[in-house]
Amino acid sequence: MSRDLRDWVARLRKAGELVEVTAEVDPRLEITEITDRVTKAGGPALLFRNVTGSDMPVLINQFGTEKRMCMALDVDSLDDPGRRIKDLIELQPPQGLLEKVKALGTLRELASFGAKDVRTGACQEVVHTEPDLTRLPVLTCWPDDGGPFVTLPLVFSRDPVTGARNCGMYRIQVVDERTAMMHWQIHKDGAAHLRDSQGRVEVAVAIGTDPATTYSATAPLPPAIDEMMFAGFLRGGSVEMVKCRTVDVEVPANAEIVLEGYVDANDLRPEGPFGDHTGFYTPVDEYPAFHVTAVTHRRDPIYATTIVGLPPQEDFWLGKATERMFLPLIRTSVPDMIDMNLPLEGVFHNCAVVSVKKRYPGHAKKLMNAVWGLGLLSLTRCVIVVDHDVDVHDLSAVAFHAFSNVDPKRDSLVVEGPVDALDHAAPYFAYGSKIGFDATRKWEGEGVVRPWPEKALMSEEVRARVTARWAELGIDVPER
Ligand SMILES: Cc1cc2nc3c(=O)[nH]c(=O)nc-3n(C[C@H](O)[C@H](O)[C@H](O)COP(=O)(O)O)c2cc1C
Repeated sequence: MSRDLRDWVARLRKAGELVEVTAEVDPRLEITEITDRVTKAGGPALLFRNVTGSDMPVLINQFGTEKRMCMALDVDSLDDPGRRIKDLIELQPPQGLLEKVKALGTLRELASFGAKDVRTGACQEVVHTEPDLTRLPVLTCWPDDGGPFVTLPLVFSRDPVTGARNCGMYRIQVVDERTAMMHWQIHKDGAAHLRDSQGRVEVAVAIGTDPATTYSATAPLPPAIDEMMFAGFLRGGSVEMVKCRTVDVEVPANAEIVLEGYVDANDLRPEGPFGDHTGFYTPVDEYPAFHVTAVTHRRDPIYATTIVGLPPQEDFWLGKATERMFLPLIRTSVPDMIDMNLPLEGVFHNCAVVSVKKRYPGHAKKLMNAVWGLGLLSLTRCVIVVDHDVDVHDLSAVAFHAFSNVDPKRDSLVVEGPVDALDHAAPYFAYGSKIGFDATRKWEGEGVVRPWPEKALMSEEVRARVTARWAELGIDVPER
């Protein structure tokens, strides 16, 4: 596992997954245009060494392909962490001696994941108590963006009531040398900390950590689970945390750059517009100001960032990792959800395709309601439910069944409730309607259903016969 960002950069370089660009590039729009082309072509991570206006190199597209997302989590498949989580959840009281020994090992492993406090950290090799955010190579991503945005930050704060740590990834708009805007949306844990506070929350922002730790900031974990413990679980070793210099918050000791300060609920200002991961500009809205009290960094820091915009972008793979990792967890309370796909075109919150092995009338509709009751998945605008034998990742097969099997009146369900804060189609901010389509074969008892036809499929006997004779036929198309 990578120790820190620079170790990860070295791994990417060694694996031929990094291109270092020495030509001068402008963080205003130019890096976006270059990166957008590279990401959409499935290209490498980029390290821009010569960025106009800053002496820090910029790393981007580190997670931009499935291969690199797997490398980031040190797994062969994005399903692997989910399998580890499943094993942990399914830890039953051990029966025999051998099982007891095994269970002990798993528990010891679990206990070892917790973040570890250390006294010093490389992230404080250089300390600026007269901070100047404009010295960072912060990207202005799209032409109508309201300014430069820090796009890959790990934002740390504490619950003012319980003291529990949260780490979320919320973009930060730079306003001037010491002021920025904190875009934590209404449904997010950081925003809850501010609501529950006396008006101010101390915050520290880490930029550039090892990739598993960076990923963990994006994971939709409940407040009771420390993202840094989760990062430890993913990277196979505790994240070392060091206390900040001007605020009572800890950050990963090996982070490249840290912004320290406080977010003020009584200092709301316009944030945006921002070319968002929906593919559209998010309009200006009021968010709290983040007042920066110090900037610390390593010697020769690397600034890590990303761009979002019309998909596909790098964040698709962060989301895919979450989808695969959290499915086993979801299945502990919704075991009838066989599989799930959040397709690229749905930009996370607009569409979920789920499959079910139906056991009773209305089972597909029950699944829609389950999705609308689950954490951030509850914001999903469109849920399509297919039978278990349809591959949810094959969007052509999903569309075929949705187009064929749905009587709109009988098989759709429209509900109202919270929707994503970025949902521009909703009639109100963060509130609107959601729709489910039951694309399963219908059963008796699911409304008026005429006899359901069988799919026209060839018999196994004839398929085997033709397969055996395929070469003899001399037809030049691949055998299926
Ligand atoms: C690249 C990237 C940028 C993101 N930007 C934001 C953002 O600006 N505001 C926000 O509320 N969530 C943003 N998110 C989503 C949150 O990071 C995600 O919902 C996370 O689970 C929030 O953590 P929390 O549950 O601890 O609040 C972003 C995710 C990614 C991958």
